[in-house]
Amino acid sequence: MRVIIEADAAAAAATAADFIAALVRRKPDAVLGLATGGTPVSCYQLLIEMHRQEGLDFGQVRTFNLDEYVGLPATHPQSYHRFMQEQLFDHVNLQPERCQLPDGVADDLPAACAAYEAAIREAGGIDLQLLGIGTDGHIAFNEPGSSLAGRTRVKHLTAETIRDNARFFGDEASVPRLAVTMGVGTILEARCCLLLATGAHKAEAVRAAVEGPVSASITASALQLHPDVVMVLDEAAAGELQRSEYYKMAEAAERTRSAAAE
Ligand code: F6R
Repeated sequence: MRVIIEADAAAAAATAADFIAALVRRKPDAVLGLATGGTPVSCYQLLIEMHRQEGLDFGQVRTFNLDEYVGLPATHPQSYHRFMQEQLFDHVNLQPERCQLPDGVADDLPAACAAYEAAIREAGGIDLQLLGIGTDGHIAFNEPGSSLAGRTRVKHLTAETIRDNARFFGDEASVPRLAVTMGVGTILEARCCLLLATGAHKAEAVRAAVEGPVSASITASALQLHPDVVMVLDEAAAGELQRSEYYKMAEAAERTRSAAAE
């Protein structure tokens, strides 16, 4: 696991955006796995700026989002479809037919979940999966206790997640109780995973994910089993890590080495 600790949330977002932009430049038809929530917003803003100012080209890129609430149509202001439209898709040259999110209003949700997995496979798999982390240690909506081998399916949200996400809905009662989510097994098949976490409220979940045992109680800890994971943190989110000095030393050495190689 590569742990990058940046001074603040803005620097962490810039590092995450640089990883994504570098992949898109290297592989113009890259398959990106995308996340919603508060954390990736500034990263998406930077990608939009790179598109506008440097012509970063998303014309051949495909995207698959991690999750969607059950029961919210794409037009609902709090749906993740709408979120992605407003935060990224409307502002870059991604082709609408190449951007997919799970369908939270399908008549047959299990069939829609299976079709989503098949679409990811048919696209050749995800090159880079962007992730956030819940305060309960979830990735996507794989809540504590979720199978670490799980595939795209419907999950119940925990009380903690409902509380955390109430800020987007105005009150807890309006937060859907169910979501369609990629499974941890689906996520671990991405060729690279990039988890972005900022803020002191994420520090305990980050510590458990990076330095705790691999456990279904903290589904982000399953990333320890993946050979290519980058954790991009700000100082606040890294605040509980026991080995932060080691990660900083290793990252500084890595940057010196790659600058010398250029
Ligand atoms: C969103 C998602 C979630 C969020 C997590 C953190 O698509 O899958 O796992 O990444 O809940 O959310 P924020 O960034 O709002 O703290």
